[in-house]
Amino acid sequence: KKVVLAYSGGLDTSIILKWLQTEYGCEVVTFTADLGQGEELEPARKKAEMLGVSKVYIEDLREEFVRDFVFPMFRANALYEGLYLLGTSIARPLISKRLVEIAAAEGADAVAHGATGKGNDQVRFELAAYALNPDIKVIAPWRLWDLTSRTRLLEFAEQNQIPVAKDKRGEAPFSVDANLLHTSSEGKVLENPAEEAPDYVLQRVVPVEQAPNEPEFIEVSFEKGDAVAINGEAMSPATILTKLNEYGGKHGIGVLDLVENRFVGMKSRGVYETPGGTLLLEAHRGIEQITLDSGAGHLKDSIMPRYAELIYNGFWFSPEREMLQALIDKSQEHVTGTVRLKLYKGSARTVARWSDHSLYSEAHVTFEEDAGAYNQEDAKGFIQLNALRLKLLAARNRRLKG
Ligand code: ARG
Ligand code: SIN
Repeated sequence: KKVVLAYSGGLDTSIILKWLQTEYGCEVVTFTADLGQGEELEPARKKAEMLGVSKVYIEDLREEFVRDFVFPMFRANALYEGLYLLGTSIARPLISKRLVEIAAAEGADAVAHGATGKGNDQVRFELAAYALNPDIKVIAPWRLWDLTSRTRLLEFAEQNQIPVAKDKRGEAPFSVDANLLHTSSEGKVLENPAEEAPDYVLQRVVPVEQAPNEPEFIEVSFEKGDAVAINGEAMSPATILTKLNEYGGKHGIGVLDLVENRFVGMKSRGVYETPGGTLLLEAHRGIEQITLDSGAGHLKDSIMPRYAELIYNGFWFSPEREMLQALIDKSQEHVTGTVRLKLYKGSARTVARWSDHSLYSEAHVTFEEDAGAYNQEDAKGFIQLNALRLKLLAARNRRLKG
Protein backbone atom coordinates (compact mmCIF):
# COMPACT_ATOMS: atom_id res chain seq x y z
CA LYS A 1 0.00 0.00 0.00
CA LYS A 2 1.23 3.48 -0.90
CA VAL A 3 -0.21 6.82 0.18
CA VAL A 4 0.58 10.44 -0.66
CA LEU A 5 0.39 12.63 2.45
CA ALA A 6 -0.12 16.41 2.44
CA TYR A 7 2.79 17.15 4.76
CA SER A 8 3.51 20.51 6.37
CA GLY A 9 6.49 19.39 8.42
CA GLY A 10 4.62 20.39 11.58
CA LEU A 11 3.77 18.25 14.57
CA ASP A 12 0.38 16.92 13.52
CA THR A 13 1.34 15.81 10.02
CA SER A 14 4.61 14.32 11.34
CA ILE A 15 2.61 12.21 13.76
CA ILE A 16 0.29 11.25 10.93
CA LEU A 17 3.28 10.25 8.82
CA LYS A 18 4.59 7.95 11.56
CA TRP A 19 1.12 6.59 12.25
CA LEU A 20 0.51 5.77 8.57
CA GLN A 21 3.78 3.82 8.49
CA THR A 22 3.50 1.96 11.79
CA GLU A 23 -0.20 1.58 12.61
CA TYR A 24 -1.62 1.67 9.11
CA GLY A 25 1.29 -0.19 7.53
CA CYS A 26 1.79 1.69 4.31
CA GLU A 27 4.58 3.30 2.33
CA VAL A 28 4.37 7.09 2.53
CA VAL A 29 5.20 9.70 -0.09
CA THR A 30 5.02 13.28 1.20
CA PHE A 31 3.90 16.38 -0.64
CA THR A 32 4.72 19.82 0.73
CA ALA A 33 3.59 22.89 -1.16
CA ASP A 34 5.05 26.35 -0.92
CA LEU A 35 1.90 28.47 -1.01
CA GLY A 36 3.71 31.45 0.47
CA GLN A 37 3.24 30.41 4.10
CA GLY A 38 6.61 32.05 4.77
CA GLU A 39 8.32 28.98 6.16
CA GLU A 40 11.48 27.28 5.04
CA LEU A 41 10.54 24.01 3.39
CA GLU A 42 13.94 22.30 3.52
CA PRO A 43 13.40 21.37 7.18
CA ALA A 44 10.23 19.56 6.08
CA ARG A 45 12.29 17.57 3.58
CA LYS A 46 14.86 16.64 6.23
CA LYS A 47 12.18 15.66 8.70
CA ALA A 48 10.35 13.52 6.15
CA GLU A 49 13.59 11.80 5.17
CA MET A 50 14.44 11.24 8.83
CA LEU A 51 11.01 9.65 9.30
CA GLY A 52 11.74 7.19 6.51
CA VAL A 53 9.64 8.54 3.68
CA SER A 54 10.21 6.83 0.33
CA LYS A 55 9.86 9.98 -1.77
CA VAL A 56 9.56 13.67 -0.94
CA TYR A 57 7.79 16.18 -3.16
CA ILE A 58 8.35 19.87 -2.44
CA GLU A 59 6.87 22.32 -4.90
CA ASP A 60 6.64 26.07 -5.20
CA LEU A 61 2.99 26.61 -6.16
CA ARG A 62 2.80 30.31 -5.34
CA GLU A 63 2.22 31.57 -8.88
CA GLU A 64 -0.35 28.91 -9.69
CA PHE A 65 -2.10 29.56 -6.38
CA VAL A 66 -2.50 33.28 -6.99
CA ARG A 67 -3.08 33.14 -10.75
CA ASP A 68 -5.56 30.25 -10.91
CA PHE A 69 -7.26 30.37 -7.52
CA VAL A 70 -6.86 33.68 -5.65
CA PHE A 71 -7.28 36.02 -8.63
CA PRO A 72 -10.35 34.27 -10.11
CA MET A 73 -11.93 34.42 -6.64
CA PHE A 74 -11.13 38.12 -6.24
CA ARG A 75 -12.83 38.89 -9.56
CA ALA A 76 -16.02 38.06 -7.65
CA ASN A 77 -15.13 40.18 -4.56
CA ALA A 78 -15.90 36.99 -2.64
CA LEU A 79 -16.61 37.23 1.07
CA TYR A 80 -18.04 34.43 3.19
CA GLU A 81 -20.68 35.61 5.65
CA GLY A 82 -19.94 39.17 4.63
CA LEU A 83 -16.42 39.30 6.03
CA TYR A 84 -14.13 36.28 5.54
CA LEU A 85 -11.77 36.51 2.54
CA LEU A 86 -11.55 32.69 2.29
CA GLY A 87 -7.75 32.45 2.66
CA THR A 88 -7.74 28.82 3.80
CA SER A 89 -10.73 27.70 1.74
CA ILE A 90 -9.19 28.72 -1.60
CA ALA A 91 -5.87 26.90 -0.96
CA ARG A 92 -7.30 23.45 -0.28
CA PRO A 93 -8.43 22.58 -3.82
CA LEU A 94 -4.94 23.25 -5.19
CA ILE A 95 -3.33 21.00 -2.56
CA SER A 96 -5.82 18.24 -3.37
CA LYS A 97 -5.23 18.62 -7.09
CA ARG A 98 -1.50 18.04 -6.65
CA LEU A 99 -2.09 15.16 -4.18
CA VAL A 100 -4.23 13.37 -6.75
CA GLU A 101 -1.74 14.04 -9.56
CA ILE A 102 1.19 12.80 -7.49
CA ALA A 103 -0.77 9.70 -6.46
CA ALA A 104 -1.27 8.91 -10.15
CA ALA A 105 2.42 9.46 -10.93
CA GLU A 106 3.53 7.33 -7.98
CA GLY A 107 1.03 4.55 -8.49
CA ALA A 108 -0.45 5.24 -5.06
CA ASP A 109 -4.09 4.38 -4.45
CA ALA A 110 -4.65 6.76 -1.55
CA VAL A 111 -4.02 10.30 -0.33
CA ALA A 112 -3.98 11.48 3.29
CA HIS A 113 -4.43 14.80 5.06
CA GLY A 114 -4.09 16.17 8.57
CA ALA A 115 -7.42 17.94 8.96
CA THR A 116 -9.51 17.09 12.01
CA GLY A 117 -12.93 15.50 11.82
CA LYS A 118 -14.54 18.68 13.16
CA GLY A 119 -13.63 21.21 10.54
CA ASN A 120 -14.10 22.43 7.01
CA ASP A 121 -10.71 21.41 5.69
CA GLN A 122 -11.46 17.69 5.64
CA VAL A 123 -14.51 18.42 3.49
CA ARG A 124 -12.55 20.64 1.11
CA PHE A 125 -9.62 18.24 0.70
CA GLU A 126 -11.88 15.30 0.08
CA LEU A 127 -14.54 16.84 -2.16
CA ALA A 128 -11.75 18.18 -4.40
CA ALA A 129 -9.94 14.83 -4.46
CA TYR A 130 -13.09 12.86 -5.35
CA ALA A 131 -14.06 15.42 -8.00
CA LEU A 132 -10.70 14.90 -9.70
CA ASN A 133 -10.45 11.12 -9.24
CA PRO A 134 -13.62 9.21 -8.33
CA ASP A 135 -11.58 6.11 -7.38
CA ILE A 136 -9.12 7.78 -5.03
CA LYS A 137 -9.06 6.60 -1.41
CA VAL A 138 -8.72 9.26 1.25
CA ILE A 139 -7.19 8.49 4.62
CA ALA A 140 -8.03 10.96 7.36
CA PRO A 141 -6.08 9.75 10.42
CA TRP A 142 -7.79 12.25 12.73
CA ARG A 143 -11.02 10.33 12.13
CA LEU A 144 -9.43 6.90 12.57
CA TRP A 145 -6.89 6.85 15.33
CA ASP A 146 -7.23 6.68 19.10
CA LEU A 147 -5.05 9.77 19.68
CA THR A 148 -8.16 11.61 20.73
CA SER A 149 -6.62 14.32 22.88
CA ARG A 150 -3.74 16.73 22.56
CA THR A 151 -2.03 14.92 25.47
CA ARG A 152 -2.18 11.48 23.83
CA LEU A 153 -0.84 13.07 20.65
CA LEU A 154 2.16 14.52 22.48
CA GLU A 155 2.86 11.14 24.11
CA PHE A 156 2.84 9.47 20.72
CA ALA A 157 5.27 12.14 19.45
CA GLU A 158 7.61 11.50 22.36
CA GLN A 159 7.52 7.72 21.92
CA ASN A 160 8.41 8.12 18.26
CA GLN A 161 11.10 10.83 18.63
CA ILE A 162 9.07 13.44 16.78
CA PRO A 163 10.22 16.93 17.81
CA VAL A 164 7.49 19.20 19.21
CA ALA A 165 7.90 22.87 18.22
CA LYS A 166 6.94 25.61 20.66
CA ASP A 167 5.89 29.15 19.77
CA LYS A 168 7.77 32.33 20.81
CA ARG A 169 6.16 32.18 24.21
CA GLY A 170 7.22 28.60 24.80
CA GLU A 171 3.74 27.17 24.31
CA ALA A 172 2.16 24.87 21.78
CA PRO A 173 0.99 27.27 19.07
CA PHE A 174 -2.51 28.13 17.92
CA SER A 175 -4.01 26.10 15.11
CA VAL A 176 -2.53 28.18 12.33
CA ASP A 177 -2.93 27.95 8.59
CA ALA A 178 -0.93 30.32 6.42
CA ASN A 179 -0.40 31.01 2.73
CA LEU A 180 0.19 34.04 0.51
CA LEU A 181 -3.39 35.19 1.00
CA HIS A 182 -3.74 34.92 4.77
CA THR A 183 -2.83 33.60 8.17
CA SER A 184 -5.63 32.14 10.25
CA SER A 185 -5.43 31.37 13.94
CA GLU A 186 -7.91 29.27 15.88
CA GLY A 187 -8.02 27.43 19.19
CA LYS A 188 -6.64 28.03 22.69
CA VAL A 189 -7.67 31.44 24.12
CA LEU A 190 -9.57 32.20 20.93
CA GLU A 191 -12.09 29.48 21.74
CA ASN A 192 -13.91 31.90 24.03
CA PRO A 193 -15.51 34.44 21.69
CA ALA A 194 -16.32 36.70 24.65
CA GLU A 195 -12.59 37.22 25.22
CA GLU A 196 -10.71 39.75 23.13
CA ALA A 197 -7.90 38.19 21.06
CA PRO A 198 -4.46 39.16 22.38
CA ASP A 199 -2.13 41.05 20.02
CA TYR A 200 0.44 38.23 20.12
CA VAL A 201 -1.88 36.20 17.88
CA LEU A 202 -0.90 38.49 14.99
CA GLN A 203 1.81 37.16 12.72
CA ARG A 204 1.87 39.36 9.64
CA VAL A 205 -0.02 42.54 10.45
CA VAL A 206 1.29 45.06 13.00
CA PRO A 207 -1.17 46.02 15.74
CA VAL A 208 -2.84 49.16 14.45
CA GLU A 209 -1.47 51.25 17.34
CA GLN A 210 2.03 50.55 16.03
CA ALA A 211 1.26 51.46 12.41
CA PRO A 212 3.06 54.50 10.93
CA ASN A 213 1.65 57.95 11.73
CA GLU A 214 1.97 59.02 8.10
CA PRO A 215 -0.34 57.73 5.35
CA GLU A 216 1.11 55.97 2.32
CA PHE A 217 -0.38 55.97 -1.19
CA ILE A 218 -0.09 53.11 -3.67
CA GLU A 219 -1.47 52.61 -7.16
CA VAL A 220 -2.78 49.21 -8.24
CA SER A 221 -3.43 48.59 -11.93
CA PHE A 222 -5.85 45.98 -13.25
CA GLU A 223 -6.37 44.20 -16.54
CA LYS A 224 -9.64 42.32 -17.05
CA GLY A 225 -10.19 42.19 -13.31
CA ASP A 226 -6.72 40.98 -12.28
CA ALA A 227 -4.05 43.11 -10.63
CA VAL A 228 -1.06 43.45 -12.95
CA ALA A 229 1.08 46.29 -11.55
CA ILE A 230 1.84 48.29 -8.42
CA ASN A 231 2.93 51.92 -8.80
CA GLY A 232 3.27 51.37 -12.53
CA GLU A 233 5.61 48.40 -12.20
CA ALA A 234 4.33 45.19 -13.82
CA MET A 235 4.66 42.12 -11.60
CA SER A 236 3.62 38.48 -11.54
CA PRO A 237 0.48 37.55 -9.57
CA ALA A 238 2.38 36.09 -6.60
CA THR A 239 4.77 39.06 -6.53
CA ILE A 240 1.85 41.49 -6.48
CA LEU A 241 0.20 39.71 -3.58
CA THR A 242 3.52 39.52 -1.71
CA LYS A 243 4.02 43.29 -2.13
CA LEU A 244 0.45 44.09 -1.14
CA ASN A 245 0.95 41.98 2.00
CA GLU A 246 3.98 44.10 2.90
CA TYR A 247 2.07 47.38 2.44
CA GLY A 248 -0.99 46.17 4.29
CA GLY A 249 0.91 44.48 7.11
CA LYS A 250 2.98 47.58 7.78
CA HIS A 251 -0.16 49.76 8.09
CA GLY A 252 -2.09 47.38 10.33
CA ILE A 253 -4.63 46.54 7.60
CA GLY A 254 -6.66 43.36 7.17
CA VAL A 255 -7.22 41.90 10.63
CA LEU A 256 -10.56 40.17 11.12
CA ASP A 257 -11.93 38.60 14.31
CA LEU A 258 -14.83 36.41 13.24
CA VAL A 259 -17.28 33.83 14.53
CA GLU A 260 -18.32 31.90 11.43
CA ASN A 261 -20.55 28.96 10.60
CA ARG A 262 -18.56 25.89 9.61
CA PHE A 263 -20.05 23.64 6.93
CA VAL A 264 -20.14 20.78 9.45
CA GLY A 265 -22.64 22.71 11.55
CA MET A 266 -20.79 24.33 14.43
CA LYS A 267 -19.73 27.93 14.93
CA SER A 268 -16.04 28.66 15.32
CA ARG A 269 -14.02 31.75 16.14
CA GLY A 270 -10.91 32.70 14.22
CA VAL A 271 -8.55 35.61 13.77
CA TYR A 272 -7.61 36.23 10.16
CA GLU A 273 -4.83 38.38 8.79
CA THR A 274 -5.34 39.18 5.11
CA PRO A 275 -3.37 42.40 4.52
CA GLY A 276 -2.75 42.12 0.77
CA GLY A 277 -6.16 40.59 0.08
CA THR A 278 -7.86 43.48 1.86
CA LEU A 279 -6.04 45.99 -0.35
CA LEU A 280 -6.81 43.95 -3.43
CA LEU A 281 -10.53 43.77 -2.65
CA GLU A 282 -10.73 47.51 -2.03
CA ALA A 283 -8.80 48.33 -5.21
CA HIS A 284 -10.81 45.87 -7.30
CA ARG A 285 -14.05 47.39 -6.09
CA GLY A 286 -12.54 50.79 -6.87
CA ILE A 287 -11.83 49.95 -10.51
CA GLU A 288 -15.18 48.19 -10.93
CA GLN A 289 -16.89 51.41 -9.81
CA ILE A 290 -15.99 53.15 -13.07
CA THR A 291 -15.70 50.22 -15.50
CA LEU A 292 -18.67 47.95 -14.69
CA ASP A 293 -22.14 48.57 -16.01
CA SER A 294 -24.73 48.74 -13.22
CA GLY A 295 -26.75 45.77 -14.51
CA ALA A 296 -23.63 43.62 -14.80
CA GLY A 297 -22.31 44.79 -11.44
CA HIS A 298 -25.53 44.24 -9.52
CA LEU A 299 -26.00 40.77 -11.03
CA LYS A 300 -22.50 39.63 -10.10
CA ASP A 301 -22.91 41.09 -6.62
CA SER A 302 -26.14 39.13 -6.19
CA ILE A 303 -24.46 35.79 -6.91
CA MET A 304 -21.34 36.56 -4.86
CA PRO A 305 -22.60 35.10 -1.54
CA ARG A 306 -23.48 31.82 -3.26
CA TYR A 307 -20.11 31.73 -5.02
CA ALA A 308 -18.29 32.40 -1.72
CA GLU A 309 -20.28 29.69 0.04
CA LEU A 310 -19.34 27.17 -2.66
CA ILE A 311 -15.66 27.91 -2.08
CA TYR A 312 -16.05 27.81 1.69
CA ASN A 313 -17.89 24.49 1.54
CA GLY A 314 -15.30 22.86 -0.71
CA PHE A 315 -17.07 22.89 -4.07
CA TRP A 316 -14.33 24.61 -6.09
CA PHE A 317 -14.32 21.73 -8.56
CA SER A 318 -18.07 21.68 -9.23
CA PRO A 319 -20.17 22.60 -12.25
CA GLU A 320 -22.05 25.29 -10.34
CA ARG A 321 -18.84 27.05 -9.24
CA GLU A 322 -17.56 26.92 -12.81
CA MET A 323 -20.83 28.32 -14.16
CA LEU A 324 -20.70 31.22 -11.74
CA GLN A 325 -17.02 31.73 -12.60
CA ALA A 326 -17.89 32.02 -16.28
CA LEU A 327 -20.43 34.72 -15.44
CA ILE A 328 -17.97 36.57 -13.22
CA ASP A 329 -15.13 36.34 -15.76
CA LYS A 330 -17.39 37.67 -18.50
CA SER A 331 -18.18 40.69 -16.32
CA GLN A 332 -14.46 41.53 -16.05
CA GLU A 333 -13.80 42.17 -19.78
CA HIS A 334 -13.49 45.93 -19.23
CA VAL A 335 -12.28 45.94 -15.63
CA THR A 336 -9.00 47.54 -16.64
CA GLY A 337 -7.45 50.66 -15.14
CA THR A 338 -5.75 52.03 -12.05
CA VAL A 339 -6.78 52.76 -8.47
CA ARG A 340 -4.93 54.88 -5.92
CA LEU A 341 -5.28 53.66 -2.33
CA LYS A 342 -4.56 55.56 0.84
CA LEU A 343 -3.18 53.32 3.58
CA TYR A 344 -3.37 54.66 7.06
CA LYS A 345 -3.70 53.10 10.52
CA GLY A 346 -5.63 49.96 9.65
CA SER A 347 -7.62 51.39 6.77
CA ALA A 348 -7.28 51.17 3.00
CA ARG A 349 -9.36 53.70 1.12
CA THR A 350 -9.79 54.25 -2.61
CA VAL A 351 -9.01 57.92 -3.21
CA ALA A 352 -8.77 57.99 -7.02
CA ARG A 353 -9.46 55.74 -10.01
CA TRP A 354 -9.10 56.12 -13.78
CA SER A 355 -9.44 53.95 -16.86
CA ASP A 356 -9.59 54.04 -20.67
CA HIS A 357 -12.61 51.74 -20.24
CA SER A 358 -14.44 54.08 -17.89
CA LEU A 359 -18.22 54.46 -18.13
CA TYR A 360 -18.13 57.51 -15.92
CA SER A 361 -19.41 60.56 -17.76
CA GLU A 362 -18.72 63.86 -16.12
CA ALA A 363 -20.74 65.50 -18.93
CA HIS A 364 -23.85 63.70 -17.69
CA VAL A 365 -23.38 63.89 -13.96
CA THR A 366 -22.10 67.44 -13.58
CA PHE A 367 -23.97 69.90 -11.37
CA GLU A 368 -22.72 72.61 -13.73
CA GLU A 369 -23.93 73.33 -17.30
CA ASP A 370 -24.14 69.98 -19.13
CA ALA A 371 -24.50 71.38 -22.66
CA GLY A 372 -27.50 69.21 -23.44
CA ALA A 373 -25.94 65.84 -22.55
CA TYR A 374 -28.85 65.04 -20.29
CA ASN A 375 -32.43 66.26 -20.52
CA GLN A 376 -33.85 66.71 -17.03
CA GLU A 377 -37.36 66.67 -18.55
CA ASP A 378 -36.84 62.90 -19.25
CA ALA A 379 -36.75 62.23 -15.53
CA LYS A 380 -40.32 63.44 -15.07
CA GLY A 381 -42.02 60.61 -16.99
CA PHE A 382 -39.51 58.11 -15.63
CA ILE A 383 -40.52 58.97 -12.08
CA GLN A 384 -44.26 59.16 -12.87
CA LEU A 385 -44.33 55.62 -14.31
CA ASN A 386 -42.19 54.20 -11.52
CA ALA A 387 -44.47 55.89 -8.99
CA LEU A 388 -47.67 54.60 -10.55
CA ARG A 389 -47.98 51.35 -8.57
CA LEU A 390 -46.77 53.07 -5.40
CA LYS A 391 -49.58 55.61 -5.81
CA LEU A 392 -52.13 52.84 -6.38
CA LEU A 393 -50.92 51.05 -3.24
CA ALA A 394 -51.06 54.21 -1.17
CA ALA A 395 -54.57 54.97 -2.46
CA ARG A 396 -55.78 51.49 -1.49
CA ASN A 397 -54.25 51.78 1.97
CA ARG A 398 -55.95 55.12 2.50
CA ARG A 399 -59.30 53.69 1.30
CA LEU A 400 -59.10 50.66 3.65
CA LYS A 401 -58.16 52.76 6.65
CA GLY A 402 -61.40 54.57 5.99
N1 ARG B 1 -12.04 28.63 9.60
C1 ARG B 1 -11.28 28.90 8.44
C2 ARG B 1 -11.83 28.17 7.25
O1 ARG B 1 -12.62 27.30 7.43
C3 ARG B 1 -9.81 28.59 8.66
C4 ARG B 1 -9.47 27.13 8.83
C5 ARG B 1 -8.04 26.97 9.23
N2 ARG B 1 -7.58 25.64 9.07
C6 ARG B 1 -6.59 25.12 9.78
N3 ARG B 1 -6.25 23.89 9.48
N4 ARG B 1 -6.01 25.73 10.77
O2 ARG B 1 -11.51 28.44 6.13
C1 SIN C 1 -9.22 21.42 11.13
O1 SIN C 1 -10.17 20.88 11.67
O2 SIN C 1 -8.32 20.77 10.59
C2 SIN C 1 -9.09 22.93 11.14
C3 SIN C 1 -10.38 23.64 11.14
C4 SIN C 1 -11.20 23.51 9.90
O3 SIN C 1 -10.88 22.70 9.03
O4 SIN C 1 -12.26 24.18 9.79
